[in-house]
Amino acid sequence: MMDFAKLFSLEGRVAVVTGGSRGIGRMIAEGFVAAGCARVYITARKAAVVEQTAHELGEACVPLPGDISTLDGIQALADELAKRETGLDILVNNAGVAWGATFETFPEQGWDKVMDLNVKTPFFLTQRLHGLLKAAATDHPAKVINVSSIDGMKNNPWDTYSYHASKAALVHLTRRMAAELVKDNIVVSGIAPGAFPSEMNKAAKNAGDLVAKGIPVKRIGDTLDMAGGAIFLASRAGDYVVGTTLPIDGGIVNGSMRERGVDPLGNAL
Ligand SMILES: NC(=O)c1ccc[n+]([C@@H]2O[C@H](COP(=O)([O-])OP(=O)(O)OC[C@H]3O[C@@H](n4cnc5c(N)ncnc54)[C@H](OP(=O)(O)O)[C@@H]3O)[C@@H](O)[C@H]2O)c1
Repeated sequence: MMDFAKLFSLEGRVAVVTGGSRGIGRMIAEGFVAAGCARVYITARKAAVVEQTAHELGEACVPLPGDISTLDGIQALADELAKRETGLDILVNNAGVAWGATFETFPEQGWDKVMDLNVKTPFFLTQRLHGLLKAAATDHPAKVINVSSIDGMKNNPWDTYSYHASKAALVHLTRRMAAELVKDNIVVSGIAPGAFPSEMNKAAKNAGDLVAKGIPVKRIGDTLDMAGGAIFLASRAGDYVVGTTLPIDGGIVNGSMRERGVDPLGNAL
């Protein structure tokens, strides 16, 4: 008889969720706590917010504030984890940033900041945590989950050039890292969120009903949508999903222009 609860359980697992203090990272951390993780480390720069979130999510959630946009910050997080744990079952590379400016005025700073945190950090943080991930990958695979975006799979009309490029890069980096790390029993996969309310997606946060009109299922995403996908990938249920990025988007990537009320030529339907 199939043990259904065990299929999705994260009982006793140790996880790190970068950018776990708010938004999508917090939704994932909350899900991991509910699924039975022993410890869910959350990291972000604003220490007070990290600590408040950890307090709200309960004693399994552990605050580890820090800036992971630089190699020094990444190494500091890896060193701190190595002091506390002998293995790491789940790493969620979620922390991300966006930058908007017109094509003509887009600055180099808006390119480097976004590419550093959204692409370089997931690679180097996974590299620096490789030893801990391998150590945990004994009776079950360790998991790395990269949070990209549907903007890495299709265009949106916003002037977020480096963000689009960074997320497409992360979708492909997920495939490449999966091919490499599978030999160590580390399964790498990804999540491409659609519209979820957060500081980054202020439109979904402040005008969710309006945003929902353009989404095939006619609502924005919520904590259960995000936690459900992350728990699936992190648990036994997702062990055979290797190198794939799962859109959790209410149908945007696979939708048509009909939801937006226009045909492909922009004519009203
Ligand atoms: N919300 C959406 O609709 C949506 C859609 C598609 C993809 N995504 C992706 O989902 C991820 C989370 O986005 P979100 O919407 O939840 O954004 P958010 O509310 O802005 O949260 C970003 C998180 O990352 C942390 N962070 C930012 N810079 C950091 C740094 N240098 N070092 C450590 N932590 C840092 C932030 O905390 P601090 O500021 O305190 O550091 C915060 O915890 C991102 O990768 C984003 O691209 C979001």
